[in-house]
Amino acid sequence: MKGAKRYTVTAALPYANGPIHIGHLAGAYLPADIYVRWLRANGKDVIFICGTDEHGVPITIKAKNEKVSPQEIVDRYYQIISSSFEKFGISFDIFSQTSKEIHHRTAADFFTTLNNKGVFTETETEQYFDEQENQFLADRYIIGTCPKCSNDKAYGDQCEKCGTSLSPDELINPVSALSGKTPILKKTKNWFLPLDKIQTEFLNNFINSKKDWKTNVSGQCKSWLNEGLKPRAMTRDLDWGVKVPLKEAENKVLYVWFDAPIGYISATKELLPENWEKYWKDPETSLIHFIGKDNIVFHCVIFPAMLHSHGGYILPKQVPANEFLNLEGEKISTSRNHAIWLHEYLDDFPSKQDELRYVLTSIAPETKDADFTWKDFQARVNNELCSIIGNFVNRVLVLSHKYFDGFVQPCSFTEATDKNIITEIKKIQIEISNLISEFKFREAQAELVNMIRLGNKYITDSEPWHLIKTDEKRVGEILHICIVLTHNFAVSALPFLPFTADKIFDLLNTNKEQTIKNGTKLNNPILLFEKIDDEKIEKQIEKIKIKSNVKIFDNPHIQKSSIAEIKPNINFDDFVKTDMRIATIIEAERVENTEKLLKLTLDTGIDKRTVVSGIANHFNPQEIIGVQVCLLANLEPRKIKGIESNGMILMTENADGQLVFVSPSVKAMNGATIR
Ligand code: 2FM
Ligand code: ZN
Repeated sequence: MKGAKRYTVTAALPYANGPIHIGHLAGAYLPADIYVRWLRANGKDVIFICGTDEHGVPITIKAKNEKVSPQEIVDRYYQIISSSFEKFGISFDIFSQTSKEIHHRTAADFFTTLNNKGVFTETETEQYFDEQENQFLADRYIIGTCPKCSNDKAYGDQCEKCGTSLSPDELINPVSALSGKTPILKKTKNWFLPLDKIQTEFLNNFINSKKDWKTNVSGQCKSWLNEGLKPRAMTRDLDWGVKVPLKEAENKVLYVWFDAPIGYISATKELLPENWEKYWKDPETSLIHFIGKDNIVFHCVIFPAMLHSHGGYILPKQVPANEFLNLEGEKISTSRNHAIWLHEYLDDFPSKQDELRYVLTSIAPETKDADFTWKDFQARVNNELCSIIGNFVNRVLVLSHKYFDGFVQPCSFTEATDKNIITEIKKIQIEISNLISEFKFREAQAELVNMIRLGNKYITDSEPWHLIKTDEKRVGEILHICIVLTHNFAVSALPFLPFTADKIFDLLNTNKEQTIKNGTKLNNPILLFEKIDDEKIEKQIEKIKIKSNVKIFDNPHIQKSSIAEIKPNINFDDFVKTDMRIATIIEAERVENTEKLLKLTLDTGIDKRTVVSGIANHFNPQEIIGVQVCLLANLEPRKIKGIESNGMILMTENADGQLVFVSPSVKAMNGATIR
């Protein structure tokens, strides 16, 4: 394999304010891991860099809600995220954190160099300021009415109801999310990267020279350039982030998208304190960024502009960004919990990492958005991993044990059929390599399965089970060829299915370097994959429906209450006096002239009854129809705003302090009692 002398491969630093879901894995981390494993297998000098992106406003909002420090939030999610990656075999050389001292120093020095070179323009603008809290408000901290859809809980950067991206001055009646007060406009100075100027002197040429970039990537870049770039502030009036290294900028930090990509450099320094520069400054190094499509502008335009302005650094050679992965026909949404979280997948499908890796690569959103469905997952695992791959490997091992006690027999490779199949295997391996080098992982993996199809056909055509009666030597040769094929398959599968490849090496009593030798004793067959039954899949589908039925407002006003102490003991007789049941919300409407109340009609399986609940600030009435809840059914009726309420719905809080329903984990029967 030709290629560069050295590779620096990065995968987008995930924000440390939530766990990782399958969209993240399919978008950036899995293709990056396949690519890096393949480079390593080809003996390339490569480093694979990642870590958590620990700055930015959403992290501070989460910390405020939970009444903990931002550091506590990011450390918590760092653990969750890095453990998910490790379990899925994502083979980073380092997984660091941008809150580390080395990163703060590196990012601040980078800023200082640009500042000393006179790259920035210093500009005064008017920003919203909360007088009560005595601080400038980041866009996310300003809430008001959306000019497009009249949602009165739109943020200063986006309305989550209609999806419009906004700037704070577009909001009608803006209020501060910190104090609830109307903010004032106040002048503040910030340091801007003059992207308009950098566009003409560098970026236009840079992007135009990238003839081999994916069309989805260069297309997006060109459309940004066609619109004309504007200067962008690289400093912000916040207190969480990398402090701006200037006396006159005491209460400012670097813009999160300024410091985050520098995180790749700081993590390399941390990994290789003596040697890091050759991975960032030597033109013989290829810098490759794996990201999702929402990060294209930052990696293809802003980061190159920063690196170019600084000088001395190499620029990205390739940015093979993926499009988005949807789930069951809908956009993955973390706020609606419409997602498959990696840690939850592993709870439900322990040791089935390769099954998910395989399916996500089969449907990878390489050129357009793709859709993950549980039915498709089941079909691919059962029909491809089990019936094609698992079945072939099993057949070869079972026959070898049956006819030859598991010993590999001699083979002279003289028969034309044998020669053909070996040539075909080599061809497929070269094709897989070519496809990986072009970032076409989906097609490459399909070729891998073709290799096994070839083996299945060979074994079926040569019928060793008949031949054994007349020509034992020939059967030994056929199985030898099949074992060679299996070994070659495992070598090529290593980047895609690392856990399975290792299992195959164990079965063949060999490793990735060693070729198959006569007389090797094969281990006893084990099933590489097991079929996934309908019931398991139905459960997952149901889980998604229940999880994502309810939209929760991501409301920064909500403060997480501390965990309450356990109340004094009661006896069992006290408990059985309560009558709690499952019920379904069938109607919901706001109670007029109130802010908090919803009038709900519940189907209890026994009757249809009205319950008034103080949850109007948390849910849209239309979006909770059909949700199953727990109802305290024998609470004395009482009148609330003139409406008789018959019972109480049980609620709890999620980790973000948001109010959520207590719902059965799978669909239950209305009227079923809770015991
Ligand atoms: O979109 C995101 O999740 C960002 N945290 C990605 C940052 S990538 C890099 F620049 F650090
Ligand atoms: Zn809107």
